[in-house]
Amino acid sequence: MDIKITRTENPKVKPTDESKLGFGRIFTDHMFIVEYDKGIGWHDARIVPYGPLCLDPASPVFHYAQEIFEGTKAYRLPNGEVGSFRLIDNARRMNRSADRTCMPALDEDFQVEAISRLIDLDRDWVPSSEGTSLYIRPTMIADGKSLGAHSAERFIYFVICAPSGSYYPDGMKPVRIRIEQRYVRAVKGGMGRAKTGGNYAASFKATKEAMDAGFNQVLWLDGREQKYVEEVGAMNMMFVIDGKIVTAELGDTILPGVTRDSVITLAKDRDMIVEERRISVKELYEAHAEGRLTEAFGTGTAAVISPVGELQYMGESIIINNREIGSVAQMFYDILTGIQRQTVEDIHGWIAVIPHY
Ligand code: COI
Repeated sequence: MDIKITRTENPKVKPTDESKLGFGRIFTDHMFIVEYDKGIGWHDARIVPYGPLCLDPASPVFHYAQEIFEGTKAYRLPNGEVGSFRLIDNARRMNRSADRTCMPALDEDFQVEAISRLIDLDRDWVPSSEGTSLYIRPTMIADGKSLGAHSAERFIYFVICAPSGSYYPDGMKPVRIRIEQRYVRAVKGGMGRAKTGGNYAASFKATKEAMDAGFNQVLWLDGREQKYVEEVGAMNMMFVIDGKIVTAELGDTILPGVTRDSVITLAKDRDMIVEERRISVKELYEAHAEGRLTEAFGTGTAAVISPVGELQYMGESIIINNREIGSVAQMFYDILTGIQRQTVEDIHGWIAVIPHY
């Protein structure tokens, strides 16, 4: 499918102070859009000036939340070129989310090409300072005009880009996390594995309550027994217990994070033991009491590696690594950002230089 390009006639002023970018607040000059209609398939692929979408108020996305999204990043490389990171893996996950939410797949190579062309057009927006990147948000929504509670027949896939700094305003400072005991995020057979907006909406109340109490995020427990730790919504979680990396095993309820997979791969490259299995809160607290839980950190595209300094469950806190950044979290942060900045060899071929089309 051809991609028609209409350049903006009114380029926006680009941010000059990269230390004040924040996360996902400033958007580039262009966006990618392609539409789908039942019986026709995907059509009218285009890059157009960034701007509002015009949707019918009866669009199913507003009523039944038929929506999925992705998060991926592009980086300024030392030679001034721009590199994307594991874009094909995000495109594959988008299609897995589409399948779960009854939305149409979009060819994965085409997703990569569309996003790469968009990045190419807006390449001057890719920041270059340490810790910055172009955050990319591919999204698919159900469009149309019907309040019938069934899958839509018309869809829009679009991509927007935001030059961004750290996801957490304090950068890599260890965060405080409350283990959620009242609400649940996902259950077996549900949507937890899909990257769909409803999973995030479902987390806002618990997150707000935790933030009001001084925490940064909540750590979700399994929805059945509420005993086993799962994920933090914006991040997968890793623990260092007895020197091994322990993380919740994937299943219906956990988002298969690309950064999670990158960290596991990098750990195995270094002969570290990685255990993907159920981890109970009891095990974490016991390991902490015995001095065997030495680090906890989150992994995510937006958050990269986020060390955890405190976990609290039912009012009882454990302080991890004296609220300091642990050596394992720091090592993965350095390797990942080193690969992204080409100061560490990219042996897995995760970085793709964006062509000048
Ligand atoms: C990402 O890490 O890209 C995400 O989509 C998490 C989001 C809640 C910021």
